[in-house]
Order: sequence, then structure tokens, then C-alpha cells
Amino acid sequence: MQFPNCTVVDHPLVKHKLTLMRRVETSTASFRALLQEISLLLAYEAFRDLKLRDEEIQTPLATMNAPVLDGKKLVLVAIMRAGQGILDGMLQLVPSARVGHIGLYRDPETLAAVEYYYRVPAQLADRDVVVCDPMLATGNSAVAALQRLKKSKPGSVRFVCLLASPEGLANLREHHPDVHVYTAAVDERLNEHGYIIPGLGDAGDRLFGTK
Ligand code: URA
Repeated sequence: MQFPNCTVVDHPLVKHKLTLMRRVETSTASFRALLQEISLLLAYEAFRDLKLRDEEIQTPLATMNAPVLDGKKLVLVAIMRAGQGILDGMLQLVPSARVGHIGLYRDPETLAAVEYYYRVPAQLADRDVVVCDPMLATGNSAVAALQRLKKSKPGSVRFVCLLASPEGLANLREHHPDVHVYTAAVDERLNEHGYIIPGLGDAGDRLFGTK
């Protein structure tokens, strides 16, 4: 199936690490380390089109016009709590990025997203924002987080996840057609509890060892 709003990062290292993460016997420590490693690889792709400008610099031997990132610092926003795992990997690549957190939980009955925390950098206008959440399942949390963030008029918004469902991608495309998704894989479907199948279980529990 093709998803025009989504780039599946097609790389042997990403595929291999994702398989290790899916395995039920993978320990919390390994899961955490793998999520950081994979997130760095996803960030590499998600940041491919960042704008550059030339700056005159001095090397030990000569002056040259060398490319540097143009514009304001990036803003990474983690959807709590599992988004923190992706954030940690991405920050290795862009350590000077500003960071925000959005707390949303899924109402177990309706699967709707309910906000309980919102703290993002004050100046979001015109900045490039990347929203991180490992599992794009129903997409309800992502849709709600993006709605909230867009009130601050960011320059661009991308979404980085580890796994996406076809349902989540369709939901995101319907509500935020301008937001491109970068993911390691698109799985088959959601189950009746809103979990991705085959998936990897509850990403928060696996990341923090809470189950
Ligand atoms: N959240 C998770 O952690 N896992 C899923 O499969 C769906 C939502």
C-alpha cells in the first residue's frame, strides 16, 4: 500500500534494529538503546531537506564558503511518554534543538486523545518542528498534538515515529495533509484496543520497563 504522506526509511540497519525491538524477549535496556539508534537514523532522513546557507569560514589552510544550517533552531516535541525515546536519539544529531513535551493519554473506551500536559518553547513561529512518538496507531494523539502546535504557527511540521498503522496514516493525512511522516515501517492494522499488529506491544512500557 502507498501512503503519499509517509516516507518509510528503507535501510538494512533500520530493518534489523526494528526486528530486534519487536521481539518479545528483548530487554528494556536493549529496547531503549535500539530506539535511540533507530531514531538517529530516522532523523537523518527526516532532516534531509533542511535549508542551508553558505558562511565564510577559515580552515587551517584557506578561507572558503561552507554550508551551515539556515534559520532558527529546530524544535523537537515529544509526545509523552514514549516520545522521549525518539527525542533522545534525535538530540544526538541536533544537540542544539529546542525541546517541547505534550502529554496525551488515550481514553481506553473511546481511544480519543486527552491532553494533560503542554510545555513547548515560547517562540515556535516560523520554526521547523518535529513531533516524535514511536507508535502512530489510531493517530488521534498525533492529530491532537499537531492541532495544538499549529496554533503557534510553526514554519513546518514533520512527524517521526518508529511504527505506523495504515489507519493512523489515513487519520493524519485527513486532518494534517501538510505534515509528512517518517517511519521505520507501516504495519498491517490496528486491533480492537488500538494496538498496532504485529507491532511491538506498548512502546512506553517496553521503554521504561513498566510492565
Ligand atoms: N501505543 C503503543 O505503545 N503500542 C501500540 O501498538 C499502539 C499504541
